[in-house]
Amino acid sequence: MTTLLLTGIGELTTHDPAHGPGPLRDAALVVESGRVAWTGPAAGALPADTAYDLGGRAVIPGFVDSHSHLVFAGDRAEEFAARMTGTPYSAGGIRTTVAATRAATDEQLAGHVARLVDEMRRQGTTTVEIKSGYGLTVHDEARSLAVARQFTEETTFLGAHVVPEGSTPEEYVDLVTGPMLEACAPHARWVDVFCERGAFDADQARAVLAAGAAKGLRGRLHANQLGPGPGVRLACELGLVAVDHCTYLDDADVAALAGSGTVATLLPGVEFSTRSPYPDARRLLDAGVAVAIASDCNPGSCYTSSMPLCVALAVREMGMSPAEALAAATLGGARALGRDDVGHLRPGARADLAVLEAPSYVHLAYRPGVPLVREVLVGGRGSL
Ligand code: NIG
Ligand code: FE
Repeated sequence: MTTLLLTGIGELTTHDPAHGPGPLRDAALVVESGRVAWTGPAAGALPADTAYDLGGRAVIPGFVDSHSHLVFAGDRAEEFAARMTGTPYSAGGIRTTVAATRAATDEQLAGHVARLVDEMRRQGTTTVEIKSGYGLTVHDEARSLAVARQFTEETTFLGAHVVPEGSTPEEYVDLVTGPMLEACAPHARWVDVFCERGAFDADQARAVLAAGAAKGLRGRLHANQLGPGPGVRLACELGLVAVDHCTYLDDADVAALAGSGTVATLLPGVEFSTRSPYPDARRLLDAGVAVAIASDCNPGSCYTSSMPLCVALAVREMGMSPAEALAAATLGGARALGRDDVGHLRPGARADLAVLEAPSYVHLAYRPGVPLVREVLVGGRGSL
């Protein structure tokens, strides 16, 4: 069994309560068989088969991006440009991407996903969730998920993204809960619904989530993105693992989140890219809500793959401290995917980590837009 020692870590964030609050200084980490075997002071590290001195750089757990839509073709740069000169974002743009996605081959779709996953990896993301939702036919949703599965176990069936042209909402919900679910469930771990005015209402969301659950898929929701609505409270009532966006929340929504185990996943790149008001993460954290940060990488509402950007926005615009934002982008994302093997560097965790070209994780927010991720290990493997 080979062991790898990373030493000379100026600041090591483990999220290990055994080390007390905050990161370790002058630390070391030992990897064995792809897992974290030990963390502690560099002076106390045992020799290993291979050792690297990181020269005082900071190490963080790899980012867990629990919300993305990477299976698509084309882009919507013109829509973005129009938005920046006053045209509001609307879910209708999704149909433009649906047309381009249907016209693409499986190989083309997989090529786009590969490019985006590589982009994410270079920015420190080591676990990513990928949704379907730009196919909206049985065939195109199933092949979208089959493509996503080539890249991650965390695949989500989002047939209920919008109602496609040519269908009534009733017909389409029947399709999603029937033949489409049947074809997609083998490729998916999760089922999701865009529960929003202009997409699907609470009853339709319930029907899709119940049908998914009957096929063994765990539920999550897009909710309260474009305005107030019932989605967040529905997610809490159903005990879903996560509810995502949470841009427009009233007191009852915050109370429901605080009283449930449901993670509120915030997507600050969306507010940035749609010129929308940012959700108040401070209010959620102070109420005791579990919070995650994710990218929502997609060609419409937010075409960034960068978790460091999302961390910087969460700190600057949503009232989070740098430590809270880092925790939300790592541990929080893991929790939003029901995972306890990633998002932290406690002994036994998958050795997924990022080495920063910086002495502290604080620089992720302090130096926005700077490519600070120097190396990434996944399961202890990388280019060190
Ligand atoms: O999460 N809100 C719904 N779906 C995506 C946007 C999709 C698009 O605009 O293409 C989102 O923001
Ligand atoms: Fe989304």
